[in-house]
Amino acid sequence: MSNFCATAIAHPNIAFIKYWGNKDEFLRIPLNSSLSMNLDNLFTRTQVEFDPRIHSDSLIINREQCYGPSFDRLSKFLDILREKSKKEIYAKVISENNFPTAAGIASSASAFAALTLAAVNALELDLSEKELSQLARRGSGSASRSIPEGFVEWQAGNNDQDSFSFSIAPPSHWDLVDCITIVQSIPKRVSSTEGHRLANTSILQEIRVKDSNRRLEICKKAIINKDFEKFAQIIELDSNLMHAVMMTSQPPLFYWEPISLEIMCAVTDWRSQGIPVCYTIDAGPNIHVICTSGLAEKIKLDLLKIDGVIDVLFSGVGSGAQLVPSK
Ligand code: DP6
Repeated sequence: MSNFCATAIAHPNIAFIKYWGNKDEFLRIPLNSSLSMNLDNLFTRTQVEFDPRIHSDSLIINREQCYGPSFDRLSKFLDILREKSKKEIYAKVISENNFPTAAGIASSASAFAALTLAAVNALELDLSEKELSQLARRGSGSASRSIPEGFVEWQAGNNDQDSFSFSIAPPSHWDLVDCITIVQSIPKRVSSTEGHRLANTSILQEIRVKDSNRRLEICKKAIINKDFEKFAQIIELDSNLMHAVMMTSQPPLFYWEPISLEIMCAVTDWRSQGIPVCYTIDAGPNIHVICTSGLAEKIKLDLLKIDGVIDVLFSGVGSGAQLVPSK
């Protein structure tokens, strides 16, 4: 058989120190370094088959043929690989998520991480984890963080070579659980890619970026020391800062729904009563409520009591992107 085929799975990640805004949009070099954990229960599975007999790429996501912006984004990404491998060859890509696409859970992260690993192997390129994370970054910034395992730092860097991700601790290090509180599972109003472009229109962005290394160091230390209180304070601050930038961009971006704020207040109330729990929010209305595994069931029941909460998905700390057998 002359086809080159490989399949990979990757988990999305939740950022504790957020990436918001690029210094180089084309290369996706972010304005600040970020820190996240992979989400083990959620994954994208992607099969890539390069076929010398076809003359264009094709993309199926969740059993539906894709055209338009998602297809263009895939094709542009595969162009980078065609150039790297010096093979003028097109691919059939079949991808599936086991979670709602574009619902504030970063599906582009797991999608581009799985795509990168599968495509690189299908083309028989021999790349290190660092190189895979650099490449995944070109497809979606946060995808860079879904390549390594566990708790992951993405060093912003200044160019294609020094902007990459690495693991700071394996999944077994700390039994954190993300209780993903779904309040609305429709596609988001403004994509992250568009949001990154607007970040510098907020007068708060410069301040957020300037202080980001300090927050990252505090967060990293809290993770290493499993210091929940310090962790809680810094990730809530970082999330609130990013949303302050979003809300003060021109035009402003409001990703929260009224219920998002209600949940944030409930979570901070619970913490003031001594329950170790905190929140963080990406570019959508769903709330990522973080606690340790022993508390997750109780937190879920309490979250489900809030009117308007549709569902709570659990996810512990996930591995890095991995190759799996093709079907
Ligand atoms: C709010 O990685 O989705 O989730 O690089 O344009 O694909 P693109 O953006 P993306 O941005 C993620 C933004 C965020 C914060 C984060 O994950 O760090």
